[in-house]
Amino acid sequence: MRYLEFKNGDRVASLGLGTWKSAPGEVYDAVRTAIKIGYRHIDCAAVYGNEAEIGKAFADAFKDGDVKREELWVTSKLWNTAHKKDDVRPALEQTLKDLQLDYLDLYLIHWPIAMKPGAGFPQSADDFLTLAEAPLEDTWQEMEAAQADGLVRHIGVSNFNIATIELIAQSAKVMPEMNQVEMHPFLPQHKLVNYCQSKGIHLTAYSPLGSSDRPRKQENEPSLMGHEVVKTIADAQGVTAAQVLLAWQVNRGVAVIPKSTNEGRLKQNLEAASIELSEDQMKHLNDLNESFRYIDGTIWTIEGSPYALEDLWEF
Ligand code: A2P
Repeated sequence: MRYLEFKNGDRVASLGLGTWKSAPGEVYDAVRTAIKIGYRHIDCAAVYGNEAEIGKAFADAFKDGDVKREELWVTSKLWNTAHKKDDVRPALEQTLKDLQLDYLDLYLIHWPIAMKPGAGFPQSADDFLTLAEAPLEDTWQEMEAAQADGLVRHIGVSNFNIATIELIAQSAKVMPEMNQVEMHPFLPQHKLVNYCQSKGIHLTAYSPLGSSDRPRKQENEPSLMGHEVVKTIADAQGVTAAQVLLAWQVNRGVAVIPKSTNEGRLKQNLEAASIELSEDQMKHLNDLNESFRYIDGTIWTIEGSPYALEDLWEF
């Protein structure tokens, strides 16, 4: 296993378990199994609606001696409806309660987009708050306070581009330590990766396999696992296409969090972290860039929304 190291010497395993879309009734078993077979990095978020079930899995794993709290890395994320100064701490406390933990290893601002408390996913422009109404700098200050108070060990962001990182950097006491974004060979994010790494910000890749189990799919999405280049490298290495996609991430020095609730695929994905790809294979995968986003962000830009895709993404 490779690790990403933080400035204070803490390390996170490069390959973790994603829990977005892991259904209630399934995610408990997925987390218990993952921990038993060696996963030490679990990625969660309040909006996934399954933190209480994951918390039960953690509690039972600690009780049964599968893992110690200090051996496990747990990430969670602040939802868009809790960006206002007074709303950050209660949201974090709810997540800690649900996960049955007294601290998180990493807490991220989920999106650089603010919504009114109670709004859920946006139904109309009325559900949004503008950045002037809920400044990201204020939200970040509360993230820093949570870290200073020991509720979270590390703080970062998700779905931030260079501009939104620079916005909070202007007043930040602590720079974000992580940016979690969509990445795969169709969206390698070379520019954002170079920028973040030059600033000492680690990256985590979400939707590394294309998240084919998600709602709101686009028409005619390209298939990562079905791509000829990926399949050819898989055959040459004697591994699966999914493993090639995960190994590419680990080999380029970012973390990756494939979701699975299936024991065979959980094992396969963890094993991918030990696959070495050649320079040539890495180059072929790096060159597959199509600037294609499975998560296209249009949910945030409905009629009348104060947010635009040009402000959200790094192009
Ligand atoms: P399952 O949970 O049944 O294994 P992403 O991580 O990009 O969001 O993708 C998750 C999707 O990919 C899920 O549908 C998951 O299904 C599937 N998946 C996870 N691991 C593999 C694998 N090794 N091979 C094929 N499909 C996989």
